[in-house]
Amino acid sequence: MEIYLDHNATSPPSDEHLVHLQKVLKGSYGNPSSLHAKGRKAQSLIYSTQKALAQSLGFLPQEVIFLSGGTEANNTVILGLKPQYPISSAIEHPCILKPLESLKRPINYINPTLLGIVTCEDLKSAITPETDFITLMIANNETGAIQEAKLFGDFLHKARWEDPSLVPQGLTQDHLRSLHFHVDAIQAYGKIPFTEWTSLGYDSVSLSIHKIGGVQGIGALLLRKKTSGNQILNPLLYGGPQQRNRRPGTENLLGIASFSLIHEELQKDSWWQQISQLREYRDHLWSFLEPHVHMFSPQKECLPNTLYFACKGGEDLILEMDMSQIYATAGSACSSGVQLESHVLKAMGIPKEISKHAIRLSLGLDFEEHQLKRLEKFLWGKLQKIIF
Ligand SMILES: Cc1ncc(COP(=O)(O)O)c(C=O)c1O
Repeated sequence: MEIYLDHNATSPPSDEHLVHLQKVLKGSYGNPSSLHAKGRKAQSLIYSTQKALAQSLGFLPQEVIFLSGGTEANNTVILGLKPQYPISSAIEHPCILKPLESLKRPINYINPTLLGIVTCEDLKSAITPETDFITLMIANNETGAIQEAKLFGDFLHKARWEDPSLVPQGLTQDHLRSLHFHVDAIQAYGKIPFTEWTSLGYDSVSLSIHKIGGVQGIGALLLRKKTSGNQILNPLLYGGPQQRNRRPGTENLLGIASFSLIHEELQKDSWWQQISQLREYRDHLWSFLEPHVHMFSPQKECLPNTLYFACKGGEDLILEMDMSQIYATAGSACSSGVQLESHVLKAMGIPKEISKHAIRLSLGLDFEEHQLKRLEKFLWGKLQKIIF
């Protein structure tokens, strides 16, 4: 019996999702740019999905751009705006860090606390009169730690538009209005209720659906027109007039249909009941593991599915799990067979001797009690703290 515990990397679509997807596609297949009925039907699927996403996140439908995934969404906002004096958390996904580095500008990296959380206060005090861009993820893909992005977004919104006394010393309201605050919500979308992480202070948000059972190869960038200030987004690609020239090319209708179905699911209580159940399993495992490992995931301020820890012989344990059809992932990225140190754990101050043994378990909605029991039985007696 397989146990797939790598949902933060990608989460397979359910059979039900695939059946629904086929139905939606059959009814709406056409080139959305074509003026005939089939094209109009396809265009209407795109518009209704934009509208639904915009409504949940406090944006306008025309501010939703579909593209090939989270990587493209993050690259688009960074390479499209080309900030001069960016601030970034040190624990962002490489698809934020690498495009930023490619600009060859001075980047102010903000480190997290020992719990892996970048705080609102640290972001606030890092802003200088030059700052034109700030980027922070909602939840970290390795540790699952929920960042103080909403707190910062709400502060920004209030200071920009409601209460000038909140503007930090040495800065102006106009400056706060003109800087761009981007959030990467790729791990949060569908795992944390919208009200807990959305904010009117966000100027852009990137989303992807393959972490929660949608298809791969589709993402969305929500980009606020009005508050992205003086900055103009230059598209990465040039071509047809699709999506108001911001992302040319025939739209990925299969991906958008999947997005629309997933987003519909997120409106139902039943989805969030399953998420609560998942959190119970995850919390149970957290308590089971914690005494025997170096636990990196916070107990509370964390995604409902993520456990990240290191134990003695962690690299070998991953292989042993693989042979027993328990699919987890190592904390460090593997490049050409060489394990790289996790930049997230490094920023949290975890020494390499520990972080090289990191294991991430990320559970999905298909996780069941009998799998929990099997997993605990398998891990029992195998976990030991690292002493060096
Ligand atoms: C936080 C975060 N941002 C961005 C991405 C990239 O998203 P995509 O795989 O859709 O390109 C990922 C994927 O792991 C992620 O976890």
